[in-house]
Amino acid sequence: MTDKKIIAVLGATGSQGGGLARAILNDRMGGFAVRALTRDPGTEKAQALAKLGAEVVKTDVNSMPSLRQAFDGAYGAFCVTFFWEHFLPDKELAQASAMATAAKMAGVKHVIWSTLEDTRLKVPLKDKRMPTLMERYKVPHFDAKGESDQAFRMAGLPTTYLRTSFYWKNFIYFGLGPKRQPDGSLALTLAMADKKLPGIAAEDIGRCAYGIFRKGMDTIGQTIGIAGEHLTGAQMAAAMTRALGQEIRYDAVTPEEYRGYDNAAAKDVANMFQYMSEFESEFCGARNVESSRAFNPDLQTFERWLAANKDRIPLS
Ligand SMILES: NC(=O)c1ccc[n+]([C@@H]2O[C@H](COP(=O)([O-])OP(=O)(O)OC[C@H]3O[C@@H](n4cnc5c(N)ncnc54)[C@H](OP(=O)(O)O)[C@@H]3O)[C@@H](O)[C@H]2O)c1
Repeated sequence: MTDKKIIAVLGATGSQGGGLARAILNDRMGGFAVRALTRDPGTEKAQALAKLGAEVVKTDVNSMPSLRQAFDGAYGAFCVTFFWEHFLPDKELAQASAMATAAKMAGVKHVIWSTLEDTRLKVPLKDKRMPTLMERYKVPHFDAKGESDQAFRMAGLPTTYLRTSFYWKNFIYFGLGPKRQPDGSLALTLAMADKKLPGIAAEDIGRCAYGIFRKGMDTIGQTIGIAGEHLTGAQMAAAMTRALGQEIRYDAVTPEEYRGYDNAAAKDVANMFQYMSEFESEFCGARNVESSRAFNPDLQTFERWLAANKDRIPLS
């Protein structure tokens, strides 16, 4: 038994939850312990967390008894859904609702819900500026998260709503990095026109979440947006050029062009870029870099993230 407050971390083997789990485990003198939730405690990632001192508990967010057990006795819970595993916003809604119910039943004292905007509040389904996707969404991987805020509110749970930002590691893993053009040049292609994109080192999301748990109950009921920097496509391309030592230009395509790309996420991501561009000041304004740094003093800039990750960016 630990006398530390247990934080049950969903997605502990992933980016957001992993950042939180490691932030807690690295702070040996801190007052929190990690319960790392995973479908398979036997994986290398789960075992690595166990070696660092985490309690690893087999959990499937699709099972209410499993979630109940996962949250039992926990002081805090970090709740995140996994859109890109299934591309189903309705499934995110069901999973978030189950998380809220289970946390309420377990009497969790502080929940951090990793969320994003429900874009339909600004761009209703009848608005023709961007297509409606899957019959009732504009940006599916945003909207179901934003809609799920209500599940945590309705459950009467002490919740901090954490609005995250675009992971810079999408330039490594999500096919969004610079691409070699037919003429041999390299181009970073985004549909952001000359607007700023709030981005973050994915592990800093969990580190900010740790800062929020450490602050106690002050943030409950608040929506807190976090970002490492707000940068235009041209600024990111220039930073990549410096870091990689190869000329990379920014290629600003229209959302319409982006929607036509041949990948499963193109329409969703195109609508996301359009939303972030058209509501730039509000979207950036909701993600203050300095207040993010107050939760996580070691918050990375894009330049620092690039210095550590430049060799992993595929230039193909
Ligand atoms: N990419 C971006 O720029 C970005 C920006 C903001 C927000 N997001 C959102 O971030 C979310 C994903 O978070 P992430 O990036 O931290 O995830 P991730 O790194 O892709 O990891 C996925 C995690 O999901 C867990 N998982 C999947 N299905 C599960 C289930 N049925 N039960 C329990 N655990 C399950 C996996 O754990 P095990 O395999 O160990 O079970 C793993 O830890 C998505 O909803 C996405 O929309 C992404």
